[in-house]
Amino acid sequence: MKIDVLLGLQWGDEGKGKIVDALSPVYDVIARFQGGPNAGHSLEFNNVKHVLHLIPSGIFHPDKLNVIGNGVVLDPAVFKSEIENLGIPLEELIKRLVISTRANLILPTHRILDAAFEHQKGNLKIGSTLKGIGPAYTDKASRNGLRVGDIMRSNFRSLFDMHVADHLSLLRNFSFEFEIKEYEKGWFEGLELMKKFRIENTEYLLNNLSSGGKKILAEGAQGTMLDLDFGSYPFVTSSTTISAGACTGLGISPRKIGEVFGIFKAYCTRVGSGPFPTELKDATGELMRKKGSEYGATTGRPRRCGWLDIPALKYAIMINDVTRLFMMKSDILSGFRTIKACTSYIFEGKQQTDMLFDNNADIDPVYTELEGWDEDISMIREFNALPENLRNYIEFIETCTGIPIGLVSVGPDRNSTIFR
Ligand code: GDP
Ligand code: IMO
Ligand code: MG
Repeated sequence: MKIDVLLGLQWGDEGKGKIVDALSPVYDVIARFQGGPNAGHSLEFNNVKHVLHLIPSGIFHPDKLNVIGNGVVLDPAVFKSEIENLGIPLEELIKRLVISTRANLILPTHRILDAAFEHQKGNLKIGSTLKGIGPAYTDKASRNGLRVGDIMRSNFRSLFDMHVADHLSLLRNFSFEFEIKEYEKGWFEGLELMKKFRIENTEYLLNNLSSGGKKILAEGAQGTMLDLDFGSYPFVTSSTTISAGACTGLGISPRKIGEVFGIFKAYCTRVGSGPFPTELKDATGELMRKKGSEYGATTGRPRRCGWLDIPALKYAIMINDVTRLFMMKSDILSGFRTIKACTSYIFEGKQQTDMLFDNNADIDPVYTELEGWDEDISMIREFNALPENLRNYIEFIETCTGIPIGLVSVGPDRNSTIFR
């Protein structure tokens, strides 16, 4: 059976958690393929909101297997606090979750290094979530990482101390105050908790399950515009967030990929620094943030808001080979008299639609204006019952991108979803 991929097409926080949870009933396995505790995936049911960072978003479904893939960077302290706050008995969670031996560990000192590097950057800071992501992936790529499989080694503590000593000597180059002992305690408790779970070479597990006819959904974190290669570098995260990342992050062949579901908000948001051509620094942007509760699920920072950027969306569709689009937070645009969508940019006096290499390039978005709608759509569950102007907006996006919108989300709850 082919493996489907679900990923974000913008700058993260598109609503991946909600949709992975909503789609889980039709899959057997949900597998996270990259990122780490920088992610904050929210999902809601029975009037309770849950925010997941490391645990795949299928965890609330009793009969599903969730896999933390090799492409993820895992912080045991975050793992522990997340497991303890799920409200699901440990014996049950142990049945539902498997961790890859090859996932790299985020050490307590990776978090300190993250903060020290950001501090040093001053005005050029990336706006990292400071969860240690960059330093952990740096150690992975420079072949200095420790991996989940290593925690079973009898000399793990000395390996850990060796890595920490290297980090501490690096940190001596910064005038940066820090304390790690308290965090380290929770980190080691997290390691002990992890040992209660299945720790496996999950590439075998996933390939065998797929060959045996099981349906697997690969869950992305962050978004295409934060991808290490194709995002607005250096204002990106340190992993491969695109569909190709599902292959390297789980150990599956590109030939095994089936559908690629691309999630986007009906408008745009970005948290952290970096270019954002359609950003609205006015009352309209403020209204989007307020209506959409646009505050980071991991850091609580206000998200920057703006109109939909169609050239960026088309770029993300191309890079990922998206087969179906899912449009989120359509309800937030109710009440805007006019909806704008950026369809091209003006750069050096010329109109263009390609993503530029240069982040500092002075580009002006060119907007197409569409009529808005006033109706509260949060209780609508039939596509044809949606206001005509919203259906026009959907059709407009489909025409611009050439990809069908297969799902329209009208609220945070798993049931506030219209499948087409
Ligand atoms: P993720 O990182 O892609 O999983 O997205 P986040 O959870 O960080 O951010 C999405 C936010 O929007 C969360 O607070 C969700 O509960 C909420 N959300 C998701 N879909 C919808 C929707 O269709 N309408 C509204 N109003 N909120 C939504
Ligand atoms: P989910 O999975 C939104 C952003 C940070 C920063 C940059 C680098 O919830 O969509 P990092 O901590 O990776 O070094 O930060 O990327 N960022 C996210 N923005 N959603 C996320 O995840 C993000 N993960 C990282 O704000 O600008
Ligand atoms: Mg998020």
